[in-house]
Amino acid sequence: MKFFIDTANVEEIRKANDMGIICGVTTNPSLIAKEGRDFKEVIKEITTIVDGPISGEVKATTTKAEDIIKEAREIASINSNIVVKIPITEEGLKAVKALSKEGIKTNVTLIFNSTQALFAAKAGATYVSPFLGRLDDIALPGINLIEEISEIFNNYDINTEIICASIRSPLHIAECALAGADIATVPYKVITQCLKHPLTDIGIEKFRKDSEQ
Ligand code: G3P
Repeated sequence: MKFFIDTANVEEIRKANDMGIICGVTTNPSLIAKEGRDFKEVIKEITTIVDGPISGEVKATTTKAEDIIKEAREIASINSNIVVKIPITEEGLKAVKALSKEGIKTNVTLIFNSTQALFAAKAGATYVSPFLGRLDDIALPGINLIEEISEIFNNYDINTEIICASIRSPLHIAECALAGADIATVPYKVITQCLKHPLTDIGIEKFRKDSEQ
């Protein structure tokens, strides 16, 4: 399974990239707003840090297919590794179909059931982003969605890649890997949580003390 980092914070991206574990970045309008920076400026800076797929999302106020296509072309022009994130709507699928014919990569987002993922793949999406954490947040087992999409895509040899999004914990990562997802996009906080284990800390402390004898 590949790892992307889910943030628009360039320092977090640099730290995760330096660890050698990520090969892409996903952002969304909320993550961009959190940085208080110009969208194009921050996406451009991110492309100088990671040369893998960088997802930049169309504005939530851009709802008609022709406007999504126009904005997507602008976003894609920022750099050759840009992937345009588009919410799963009827107009969004029309835009994905057109953009895929132009060779512009798309990441269809805000996916909460397997039929949305299947339709996005049929429209030509490069990636689909099912949000498992937000399902967990309302007491629905988000991992079931990942397993369903993974099984359906395997049944029909669908090349669209599954980016498990809305990751809340290290457990989510292990479950997504077991479910056969292609990618997990992980907040920096969860990346650091994955590395921590009390027995690792205890073992390092013992080795440190023993090495001082
Ligand atoms: O960026 C898409 C997704 O990962 C957002 O997750 O934490 O806002 O549910 P979250």
